[in-house]
Amino acid sequence: MPATLLVVDDEPRILQMVSGILQDEGFEVATAADGETALKLVAEEPPDLVLLDIALPGKDGLEVLQELKARSPALPVVMISAYGSVENAVKATRLGAYDFIEKPPNADNILLTVRNALEMSRLAEENRRLRLQTAPAREIVGKSEAIRRLREQVRMVAPTNASVLITGENGTGKELVARALHAFSPRSHKPFVEVNCAAIPEDLIESELFGHEKGAFTGATSRRQGKFDLAHEGTLFLDEIGDMSLKTQAKILRILEEQRFERVGGGRPIQVDVRVVAATNKNLAEEIQRGTFREDLYHRINVIPLQVPPLRERREDIPLLAGHFLKELARENDTPSKTFTLPALEALANLPWTGNVRELKNFVWRLAILTPGPRIDLPDLHLTPQPETEAGDLDHLLNLPNFREARARFEKEFLRHNLEECQGSVSLLAERIGLERSHLYRKLKGLGLEPGKEEN
Ligand SMILES: Nc1ncnc2c1ncn2[C@@H]1O[C@H](COP(=O)(O)OP(=O)(O)OP(=O)(O)O)[C@@H](O)[C@H]1O
Ligand SMILES: [Mg+2]
Repeated sequence: MPATLLVVDDEPRILQMVSGILQDEGFEVATAADGETALKLVAEEPPDLVLLDIALPGKDGLEVLQELKARSPALPVVMISAYGSVENAVKATRLGAYDFIEKPPNADNILLTVRNALEMSRLAEENRRLRLQTAPAREIVGKSEAIRRLREQVRMVAPTNASVLITGENGTGKELVARALHAFSPRSHKPFVEVNCAAIPEDLIESELFGHEKGAFTGATSRRQGKFDLAHEGTLFLDEIGDMSLKTQAKILRILEEQRFERVGGGRPIQVDVRVVAATNKNLAEEIQRGTFREDLYHRINVIPLQVPPLRERREDIPLLAGHFLKELARENDTPSKTFTLPALEALANLPWTGNVRELKNFVWRLAILTPGPRIDLPDLHLTPQPETEAGDLDHLLNLPNFREARARFEKEFLRHNLEECQGSVSLLAERIGLERSHLYRKLKGLGLEPGKEEN
């Protein structure tokens, strides 16, 4: 397919000449005589490249360039200029123009510049695709309404500089979301720097975040960059932000407000440009009530709140995730991927998963390693201790935080016990506990309990 180009110039003579040269070389060419028309055309049918005159009536070329780049950062734009002034060239390059052609344009020069720009854009696209491929962990897998919405939010929020606060239970995928925000942002080629606020000892967190000058304290034998420096122009991920002391919170707040800070033991303030993404499994509103979290910091980081729901509230994602993790493991080990049988998947979907996606992932990987054949079936699930379900004791059940989970566990234990009493006969069991037989059969399979032979 020929590349499609848009040429924008208010001089009909130039417009005709440039598009003629390009058409002769087999390019598909559209034209516009002013900026507004150009922007409209690009919005309707994005070309592969834009040739843009600087001196246009109405919106000038630089303004148009700025708008084009804001809407489609990857679109290559080549400027056409009568003056070739250094000043304009510098401005346009800053705004993201790929190159310059001087008027009157010469055919060889136009073709060379256009081909280079298209090649560069193709390489950049290929690069981006490869990056996404080689970073499969960035993919937020799931088909539940909640995950769809989350993906949509990530897509919308990622290109902005807004601070994001991600909340969710342990193992729900908060870090995955944070990395996706970075990967889909214009900062993606700059560092993503992670700080685990809970893991750093209180007296070291300042030097960790802000760095220190040589000799700032005992043990500071050389100057060291802090995470804020390292994240310059990139993303700073403040993980477990609910576990930061009030003192550190005050410092962070100040930096976020001023975007500058000082090294420990250092004088000159350092200016930084960081986008902050924070995550916590705590309820910060409660922490504020308790006086352990600053309300002003909360409002500063919580510009965009993103919630990752627990896995038990989106069970339809479980089969998809389980399959995804099998493939991921296979890819890592360069082996063929195993698959789950339907009953095995159903059983997985019914487990409580208090450790959320991380627990599921570990369990799936364990199964993949321990199951000898290519298919993982229901009985294989018992090869490995099931996550927290065997505990049949009442005390444990009574202390579960959530009704649905408690009921699910009780049901399973109840059915297991009675199935044994009935020596595996589903018909007997159905009669004994007063449930319809086929319904009971499906339920047992779903829970990973083995119905007796008569049924198969
Ligand atoms: N929707 C998802 N799709 C694919 N992988 C996922 C998904 N959610 C989580 N994972 C994977 O599960 C694991 C745990 O996720 P992650 O580390 O992001 O959770 P977390 O919420 O940060 O956990 P914690 O609170 O314990 O720090 C990771 O390996 C992650 O890649
Ligand atoms: Mg995490």
